[in-house]
Amino acid sequence: MGTIKSVLLFPLPAIYGNPIMNNFNLHTPTRILFGKGAIAELRDQIPAHARVLITYGGGSVKKNGVLDQVYAALEGLDVLEFSGIEPNPAYETLMKAVEIVRKENVTFLLAVGGGSVLDGTKFIAAAANYPADVDPWNILLTHGNDVQSAIPMGSVLTLPATGSESNKGAVVSRRETGDKRAFMSEHVQPVFAVLDPVYTYTLPPRQVANGVVDAFVHTVEQYITYPVNAKVQDRFAEGILLTLVEDGPKALKEPENYDVRANVMWAATMALNGLIGAGVPQDWATHMLGHELTAMHGLDHAQTLAVVLPSLLNEKRAEKHDKLLQYAERVWNITEGSEKERIDAAIEATRNFFEKMGTPTRLSAYGLDGSTIPALLNKLQEKGMTQLGEHQDITLDVSRRIYEAAR
Ligand code: NZQ
Ligand code: ZN
Repeated sequence: MGTIKSVLLFPLPAIYGNPIMNNFNLHTPTRILFGKGAIAELRDQIPAHARVLITYGGGSVKKNGVLDQVYAALEGLDVLEFSGIEPNPAYETLMKAVEIVRKENVTFLLAVGGGSVLDGTKFIAAAANYPADVDPWNILLTHGNDVQSAIPMGSVLTLPATGSESNKGAVVSRRETGDKRAFMSEHVQPVFAVLDPVYTYTLPPRQVANGVVDAFVHTVEQYITYPVNAKVQDRFAEGILLTLVEDGPKALKEPENYDVRANVMWAATMALNGLIGAGVPQDWATHMLGHELTAMHGLDHAQTLAVVLPSLLNEKRAEKHDKLLQYAERVWNITEGSEKERIDAAIEATRNFFEKMGTPTRLSAYGLDGSTIPALLNKLQEKGMTQLGEHQDITLDVSRRIYEAAR
């Protein structure tokens, strides 16, 4: 434990020994409506005189009947809709919705779909209230810091993965420039999230796997850093990881197993709603390197994470040594062998788990030979992402080694 002085002033980094839990200010204001039939509670969450814009993606919610249920629940309300928000939502598409929101004086946004629809709707919510003479892309360039307000939004989630349903983050891509950027603002955190595991029965296997891998990596990015004696956060994180390892493969084999779907859904929400990340160091380099792979090559978000994470853990094994050993023991039950062997085995187990879910972990499996690594590094540099990771020591050179080792 550190001294009282260090508790109050600043948490000490690992290299100075005995680091302590960071101070934190946690507010997670999203109401969660969880379970079979939870849509019945939707109507009560939306102001009676609201003008609602329902947003959705390419049509999965039409096919599986979720949209019909949403309309039935909102009967009598003033409702418009906007469809066509694509995976890795495009600024170009979202700006069309911003126009509708402004023109039609929409007062509430209801996102129905996966992370892309939710993130896209967060952007619409902030952009609609943004100063009319400033291009809302600026929201991404300023990471959301200058967002002063947003149209309130709620969510009906159909793909457990991103945690977007109850966090303040969103990721938006700009096709014209090949950019994929994130922003955060408390103004876009959904007021509520309807989480009905039954809605996930129709997910194609690739998206089931994507969800499990994404939630797994979110947890790892907040857990495999360096110890700060945060026992609750660590054990929550391990609980999420163990649940995903146990039920992820079952979700593929038994798509209509409610218990399995419910556990995967709640695990994904818990992985990125702020709880396990409170007071602990966070990495996020896997995500930043991954975003460039999606922007340049169109890989699914989770596919990029499956490629980058094993390679990153190996590269940073010295800095992450203590937590890698803890992870090996508590998540994979690896207790035999030297420390090096246990860490090797834990990284291998991670890779095998992603592969078992059906998500390849090598660039070559996606037809990439590594020849674009210099271009990927240029993109990172352009965004100022030259000091990533919990120690800000993932320089461009380290990123290069991580990409190279992922070939
Ligand atoms: O567009 P539709 O027709 O709805 O089909 C979608 C889409 O093609 C389909 N789908 C969703 N629910 C379904 C379904 N198909 C059948 N049955 C259902 N129940 O799945 C496809 C993928 O959907 P998408 O929303 O793109 O996937 P995901 O939820 O994985 O979201 C990925 C996006 O979220 C961002 C990613 O970068 C990416 O842009 N992230 C957002 C985060 C956040 N806000 O906190 C954090 C994450 O790290 C991530 O970066
Ligand atoms: Zn993610």
